[in-house]
Amino acid sequence: MTTHSPHDVLAGRDPADLSREELATLGMKLDDVEIQHTADRWPVPGTRAERRAERQVATWFAITALTGLAFLAVFMFWPWEYESPGSDRHLVYLLYTPLLGLTLGLSVFALGMGVFAYAKRFLPEETAVQRRHDGPSPDLDRRTIAAQFVQAGTTSGIGRRRLITRTAGLGAAVMGLGVGVFALGGFVKNPWKGGDKAALWTTPWAPVNGEKVFLRRDTGDPHDVSLVRPEDLDAGAMETVFPFRESDREDEEALVNALRGSDTPVMLIRLRPGTPTVQRKGFENFNYGDYWAFSKICTHLGCPTSLFEQRSNRILCPCHQSQFDAAHYAKPIFGPAARALPQLPLDVDEEGYFIAKGDFGEPVGPGFWERKS
Ligand code: FES
Repeated sequence: MTTHSPHDVLAGRDPADLSREELATLGMKLDDVEIQHTADRWPVPGTRAERRAERQVATWFAITALTGLAFLAVFMFWPWEYESPGSDRHLVYLLYTPLLGLTLGLSVFALGMGVFAYAKRFLPEETAVQRRHDGPSPDLDRRTIAAQFVQAGTTSGIGRRRLITRTAGLGAAVMGLGVGVFALGGFVKNPWKGGDKAALWTTPWAPVNGEKVFLRRDTGDPHDVSLVRPEDLDAGAMETVFPFRESDREDEEALVNALRGSDTPVMLIRLRPGTPTVQRKGFENFNYGDYWAFSKICTHLGCPTSLFEQRSNRILCPCHQSQFDAAHYAKPIFGPAARALPQLPLDVDEEGYFIAKGDFGEPVGPGFWERKS
């Protein structure tokens, strides 16, 4: 094989005067590509065998479109809200994620099979040999490469195979739409829908219709409600607690949600007597004597701040070592967290059980785009 220079190949002609075919041929010569064998897979157009092959490829693309549509339908309309194991609709709830995976997986698989089948059944059989090049492509190569691509498309016969191009376009469009909706759909929410009572601003600790919200432990059984009283904690102790309303006692879903919610865990801390404390401006009287309650969700990236060191009154987040001073309204004193842990206002009812006087003083967890503090 001989190496061709642009000068030899052009033989004095201006590249702008060359047709697409000539440019494509030229590009191959410049790339030192030699076609050693080429044969059209369907030398006689329009045979029954060719049409059958075309329908097979189109079927894959049609499956891509159908499963892409099914994915979209599941994503938008399937009832995904939690249903407890005792409910008739628990299976429907359980099927949501598997169906998303199945429909999207089938759509991607069918698209891949369609492309594969097309290449196998319709691209010309070709054997080409190319010499290796070093360094960047010269300017003329860049001009010819586009022509080569178009030429490859033309010789592949894709232009006259309407059934395949239409089904492939439909399949890719529906699947692309499905993936786009999946990726972006979750963001299309109005955080202000519901005003100050919107989900982003409130937690299950917020009082509803004046009903008391008690502090309970998680014993492992949602129905085993163990309420917390001040004498349950020794000085310097910490306990993780969750919200409980009497009206939820028989409602398994509400009980589970309160125990598993991302914004419900609270650290109830009893400081040692005589510990000097600082109350936060605007949140005065949120503590109940030596008892302080803070959201357990770290304000850095949302890990549980599970460690309390009673000698230094420090709360430690194990993820990136942020530390908060429990005696100083859980203000951050070390590490990447920049905001204090949200504080829960505490009180004790007439029967001696801890209750929340209201919701947290600010949104729980890491900041989001429209937080007020
Ligand atoms: S999540 Fe707590 S320090 Fe990073």
